[in-house]
Amino acid sequence: MNRAELETLKAEALEQVGAAETADALEAVRIHYLGRKGLLPQIMKILKDVAPEERAAFGQGANALKLELTDALDKRSLVLHGTQSMGVNVPAFDTTLPGRWMPRGSIHPVSQVIEEAVRIFATLGFTVAEGPDVENGYRNFEALNTPDYHPSLDDKDTFWLGDGLLLRTQTSPVQIRVMEQNPPPVRIVTPGRCYRRDTTDATHSANFHQIEGLYVDRQVSLADLKGTLAHFARQMMGPEVKVRFRPHFFPFTEPSVECDFTCHVCKGSGCRVCKQSGWIEIAGAGMVDPRVFRKVGYDPEAVSGYAFGMGIERIAMIRFGIPDIRMLYDNDVRFLKQF
Ligand code: PHE
Repeated sequence: MNRAELETLKAEALEQVGAAETADALEAVRIHYLGRKGLLPQIMKILKDVAPEERAAFGQGANALKLELTDALDKRSLVLHGTQSMGVNVPAFDTTLPGRWMPRGSIHPVSQVIEEAVRIFATLGFTVAEGPDVENGYRNFEALNTPDYHPSLDDKDTFWLGDGLLLRTQTSPVQIRVMEQNPPPVRIVTPGRCYRRDTTDATHSANFHQIEGLYVDRQVSLADLKGTLAHFARQMMGPEVKVRFRPHFFPFTEPSVECDFTCHVCKGSGCRVCKQSGWIEIAGAGMVDPRVFRKVGYDPEAVSGYAFGMGIERIAMIRFGIPDIRMLYDNDVRFLKQF
């Protein structure tokens, strides 16, 4: 036998593999060529009789035959396995098998509340503005009419980073950014992370989220603010929720209020969650102080505006009945997947 005959043999063998229509027929081909008493072992046996100058080439040819044939047998076997298990000539795919389980993620409750809040305010014409977590003291405090002797500037309350930079303690500096960049009217909401040196407990976290709102135009009034927050409350918590304003103080709004929603648990009659008051504090708000307008170059005689800021975690906790803020940050997937 010589090299050329080997090639002919290979071509024949591959043809037979392709022609095999059943697994049994394919197995017969395999045994005929590669079986213990098959053709290939016999060829290997005569290798020593081949003329020395041809031996290497012949050996390589025999090896190639073995490899190619094995590969062709495997591939043909896969095809035949499919057609035979189904009994008909279709690919190896059983549509009656149960599907494979794909792990599915879920949206974090904090993100859900942010998305929902943005959606609600968008229906009222608010667009989304964002600012960085690292702010300077000017935008976080001074431009917001918060003097440098104010306690919130203290190292006890604020994470100062050096060079007058800090981790913003509220989303209110975004108000300044937006007004510095845009002439009135302005109608924005700004969701984002805030940082305070609070000791963590069931209702406090050093890192939390707020959504801020700012509306500046001609003749904006406190009644507009109240109507907007009442509408938001009903959309977010359900049609039966009521809101109330309590007088308060913020350096950057005058007058300032705190806004409460009726307790979602007792509907206002008083329970443990609302500490028997029937109300839950949701937002700080008020009419933008003229001094803030002057800082950003707005004319307080020409425009007025309201601003509000609310805690996202607070809303998520009452909306989903989550008793402890820390659960939102433990990253326990079993917990987070429930919402
Ligand atoms: N920035 C205030 C806070 O964090 C909330 C607020 C926003 C109050 C806008 C008034 C107007 O408590």
